Amino acid sequence: MTARTYAIRTYGCQMNEHDSERIAGQLEADGLVLADSPEDADVVVFNTCCIRENADNKFYGHLGNMKTVKEQRPEVEIIVSGCLAQKDRDLVRQRAGHVDVVLGTHNVHRAVELLHASRENGPITEIWDEALDEADSFPSALAVKREIDYSAWVTIQIGCDNTCAYCIVPAVRGKEISRPFGELVEQVEGLAADGVYEITLLGQNVNSYGRDLTSARRTEERSSTDERVAGPLWAADEARRPRPLFADLLSAVSNIEGIGRVRYTSPHPKDFRQETIDAMAANPAVCEHLHLPLQSGSDSMLAAMHRGYTADRYLEKLVAARAGIDDLAVTTDIIVGFPGETDDDFERTLEVVAAAEYDSAYTFIFSPREGTEAADLVEQFCDPATVAERFARLRVVVERSALIRHRARIGRIEEIIVEGPSKRDAGVLSGRTRQNKLIHFPCDKPLRVGTLATARVTDAGTFYLHGELVEVLASPRHRTRIPVAAG
Ligand code: SAH
Ligand code: SF4
Ligand code: F3S
Repeated sequence: MTARTYAIRTYGCQMNEHDSERIAGQLEADGLVLADSPEDADVVVFNTCCIRENADNKFYGHLGNMKTVKEQRPEVEIIVSGCLAQKDRDLVRQRAGHVDVVLGTHNVHRAVELLHASRENGPITEIWDEALDEADSFPSALAVKREIDYSAWVTIQIGCDNTCAYCIVPAVRGKEISRPFGELVEQVEGLAADGVYEITLLGQNVNSYGRDLTSARRTEERSSTDERVAGPLWAADEARRPRPLFADLLSAVSNIEGIGRVRYTSPHPKDFRQETIDAMAANPAVCEHLHLPLQSGSDSMLAAMHRGYTADRYLEKLVAARAGIDDLAVTTDIIVGFPGETDDDFERTLEVVAAAEYDSAYTFIFSPREGTEAADLVEQFCDPATVAERFARLRVVVERSALIRHRARIGRIEEIIVEGPSKRDAGVLSGRTRQNKLIHFPCDKPLRVGTLATARVTDAGTFYLHGELVEVLASPRHRTRIPVAAG
């Protein structure tokens, strides 16, 4: 009998990418294999996002298309998971009756169990209001089917305790909970032993990691010592800080043998500390890239957003980071058209963006999300035509500095990890630099994905670099999985 197949469509951020890997891990443990083409899959998972309205619309559009598939092949099973499912709950099935399982962000580990139950009892919607068992709620603590062998996500914290006025994340991801230090170090050691070279520490506000690993939590944590929960650096500190710092964790995982690249996302500017800069500078494995979301350059907008910093304070931190870390690439997130944004507010954003000289920026138009504070400020909503014009002007300033910064790299030799053939030309490979930039280079050798090499930058565009291969440094260490045909 041929194995049943699955396909997963992931929307949104790395949190969801990682949850998708956990769902894949469960489905594979249940005997399913990845479908060659999503159209033929027996189980289709939509792992959804609701950060902006167009994310919602995109998903409901795709889900609508699945109706035809389900009419033609009624045996196809559909799972909807993720943040939009957590937010919309019963609405998902009201809008699309052909869904078999709806689950939220706190019960991802139940995907297969719910799928089995739906076969017995019909469609199921199961949404938990909060994480009931922390061990199950941490994505990284579960079996995963990693999409890439040499690189892994490591969730260090779930949820978010901030109250950014525009943001739906705290409502759909719950309160902030840090994962014990010792467990994270063990997990990264395991990944390194498996041949993983690059890890990305994930959290909505990584610099507040450990804020909840207080003495009460350390005592509560089952079968663990203070040191296991808060880490050896904390234990060795005579001053006995009340909790471990993100910087401690960054140092600890960077020193694990075999780990050559450490990334993290996202740090919140208000909690970004000198200790983190020092840890980045002191540990060669930590990549020279900082994603520091600005959101707005206007102090009154930042206050209305409840971001907890001013533009000057943000720029001071950026200057400190650049002074402390050689050759640092900096990227950001910016929202245009937050309710009440005036021309002057927007001019401030342009000034700060020009001063920050970003390598790239994700720019968004404010999208009201029901249930957030900003969604109620209807009377202060900005005129859409004005917002579109501001957005276009912002892109010009962002792209100008991106191009300048990329051109400044021409002639340099960069360490790269090969990601595979470029999308446009099979004779061209793409690699990723430590600064998180894509570099395209012609190559007639069949370099395996995950190969560590160096490339010389020969040309630069706004969004990527061009180069030529200089030297192959190391083949990927991960074990190649040899597919075994079941008899
Ligand atoms: N925790 C991360 C951000 C996660 S959401 C942080 O604080 O940095 C990713 C980005 O989406 C945010 O930085 C913000 O720029 C954007 N965003 C969030 N909610 C939005 C909304 N309602 N409208 C437009 N952009 C939004
Ligand atoms: Fe949203 Fe703010 Fe939390 Fe980021 S820090 S997830 S923007 S509430
Ligand atoms: Fe979207 Fe949820 Fe991430 S709303 S951006 S997938 S945390």
